[in-house]
Amino acid sequence: MSFPWPRTDLTELIGIEHPIIQAPMAGVASPALAAAVSNAGGLGSLGCGEMTVEQLRESFGETRAWTARPFNINFFAHEAPEHPSDDAAAMRGWLAGYYQELDVRESPSLSETPMRSFDAATLRAVLELEPQIVSFHFGLPAHDMLDALKSTGTVILSSATTVSEARRLEAAGVHAIIAQGYDAGGHRGTFSEPIAAGSIGTFALVPQIVDAVSVPVIAAGGIADGRGIAAAFALGASGVQMGTAFILCPESAASPVYREVLRQTRDDETVVTRAFTGRPARAIVNRFVEEMAPREDDVAPFPLQDSLTLALHVASVARGSKDLAAMLAGQASPLARALPAAALVETLVCEAQEALAREK
Ligand SMILES: Cc1cc2nc3c(=O)[nH]c(=O)nc-3n(C[C@H](O)[C@H](O)[C@H](O)COP(=O)(O)O)c2cc1C
Repeated sequence: MSFPWPRTDLTELIGIEHPIIQAPMAGVASPALAAAVSNAGGLGSLGCGEMTVEQLRESFGETRAWTARPFNINFFAHEAPEHPSDDAAAMRGWLAGYYQELDVRESPSLSETPMRSFDAATLRAVLELEPQIVSFHFGLPAHDMLDALKSTGTVILSSATTVSEARRLEAAGVHAIIAQGYDAGGHRGTFSEPIAAGSIGTFALVPQIVDAVSVPVIAAGGIADGRGIAAAFALGASGVQMGTAFILCPESAASPVYREVLRQTRDDETVVTRAFTGRPARAIVNRFVEEMAPREDDVAPFPLQDSLTLALHVASVARGSKDLAAMLAGQASPLARALPAAALVETLVCEAQEALAREK
């Protein structure tokens, strides 16, 4: 049954039935998850910001094999930082204790992060793969790269965390803007300074971005059920992007310990922290987040901090311990449900339909 959504500019733009985008979550959004969401009429997404070109090709191929419908591939577009001259010595010194505790190799090189900014090699691969939709986080790649993607008819999305960022994205030619509120799980997509300015809640941000731009706006952050989807439409959005709500789906790549912790996380148990990667990201509070809070000044710039902490995360998860694991999630964590992705999309559509009908 096709449902008359209040606005259809987004669904028409990307060729989907329901205006529900499963957020691209690097390390969590698997091909199985993305394909299941797309097959259910939403838009599945792959988070490719931590993939090599080989891994990108493989994940894209798997997803394409499981769905003939559109899906989104997502990349980071940060400016690569200068190598810090002090080699993050203070941070290394502090982290050494954790390395010892978990018996993992100490002081890895500062370039060991898998997090990559969209580059020429990635562009070449993407042009060959011919995705229908590409989204970016932390801004946009260079103009000529964007033009190359757009010239093949690819729809481009990117996240804004302030009105001025939304205006910049529209001026650069994106087709739709993801308004990412502070409630959101994962990294803040903020790409302009000062970074703290991009800390606006979803309810305040979405209508202001809707008023400021003429392209469709996708609300993201703290939306985890049909009431949230209906609210996003009431605020003027044309669709939603939901991350945390999909983490507990059996198709996601979330680890058992992450799932167990998320199932028990309360509304007041997530914070925005730079501890894991050097960029602000909303994560579930654990021992690492708490112990790093007083050491924010020593955190290495993104993504170099990730080089230093990734092995701790991996070792912690391998031991089934939440203590040093990076468990990104948003303020609506308690609303996440452990449903298969297709059932979750169907439930969200029904709930939104009921909530929108009540408002009439
Ligand atoms: C575990 C996790 C990983 C994420 N990774 C990415 C990513 O790789 N790229 C991206 O654009 N956004 C990423 N995000 C942010 C989402 O795109 C989106 O803004 C957010 O999930 C919306 O808030 P919600 O989690 O409350 O639904 C991630 C979010 C989570 C929860």
